[in-house]
Amino acid sequence: MEQKIKSANILVLDDDLGVRESLKMILKDKYYVSATSSIDEALESLSTAQPAMVFLDIKMPRANGLDFLKQVRSINSAIPVIMITAFPSTPSTITALRNGAFDYIIKPFEPSEILAVAEKALHHRMQISEKDRLVDNMRMAVQQNFFSTTEALLHAIDAKDSYTAGHSKRVSHLFAFVAGEFGMNRQQIEILRYGAFLHDIGKIGVGDIVLAKPSYLTEEEFLLMKRHSEIGYKIIEPIDFLKECLPLVRHHHEWYNGSGYPDRLRGAEIPREASILSIVDAYDALTTDRHYHKKYSHQEACEIIRKGINTQFVPTLTEKVLTIIDRYNEIRKKDDPAE
Ligand SMILES: [Fe+2]
Repeated sequence: MEQKIKSANILVLDDDLGVRESLKMILKDKYYVSATSSIDEALESLSTAQPAMVFLDIKMPRANGLDFLKQVRSINSAIPVIMITAFPSTPSTITALRNGAFDYIIKPFEPSEILAVAEKALHHRMQISEKDRLVDNMRMAVQQNFFSTTEALLHAIDAKDSYTAGHSKRVSHLFAFVAGEFGMNRQQIEILRYGAFLHDIGKIGVGDIVLAKPSYLTEEEFLLMKRHSEIGYKIIEPIDFLKECLPLVRHHHEWYNGSGYPDRLRGAEIPREASILSIVDAYDALTTDRHYHKKYSHQEACEIIRKGINTQFVPTLTEKVLTIIDRYNEIRKKDDPAE
């Protein structure tokens, strides 16, 4: 005997037992059907059974089908909803279609009609999912392309100044770890880690002589160097998916006491993620060899940063960030004992 494979869950919400039973009978060979007269049960089923489509009675004595339609649209706008009505020309049917119902069936109905409308609705849903998938893939490809390009640009900066080689990558890894410990959600971290990665992208606009100078900068050169946070901001400002990264790029050199740059923000005016990044950025700079200093040990770097509390670094964040960095180093040591 031929084995039938059921392809989707269908939810039926109708107060009429006769309608529920006949829809079940018609659909049960091809689909999993759950039928109920209770709005609450139907709502629960939307999240647990995740139906691929819904048959919905427009008029029920204790509930309004149009209200439920709105709820379905707000939970998952891709689920096609077929309204069940005895009077297709009434205003509520027209309102239902305007509010996103996929189609309607008129009571009494024929089995062939129900099967045809279910198939059409599921085909439509598959097309939407496919379109969404393609759009997502395209968006990811564009983002990937962008990140590869910026990574190449950052390598170009590193090449001009071998002392900062790998700085952006290390800072973005460490920042993502710290952000996670601060309870930021994964999605937020995924975006902000790019902000941390790109925090010095504006150095592209700073002259090679200043960037690669193997000694302390003069006041004039330092003024040029300081422009990198504003230049970086201007570079990523037009990129829609990096909007949340703008504060990181622009404000990672603001100081708690207001003497940082470019906007001389002070205290709570500085976005929290930028304050966290400034500590991570300083830590990485201190623990790697630079033109102007040999690398410091973890303890020495922490002490230097602690001396900057209340002037450069935010007092309420610094100890916590340093503790998290300590933990990060421990984990790395365990993963790679040669470190
Ligand atoms: Fe910077």
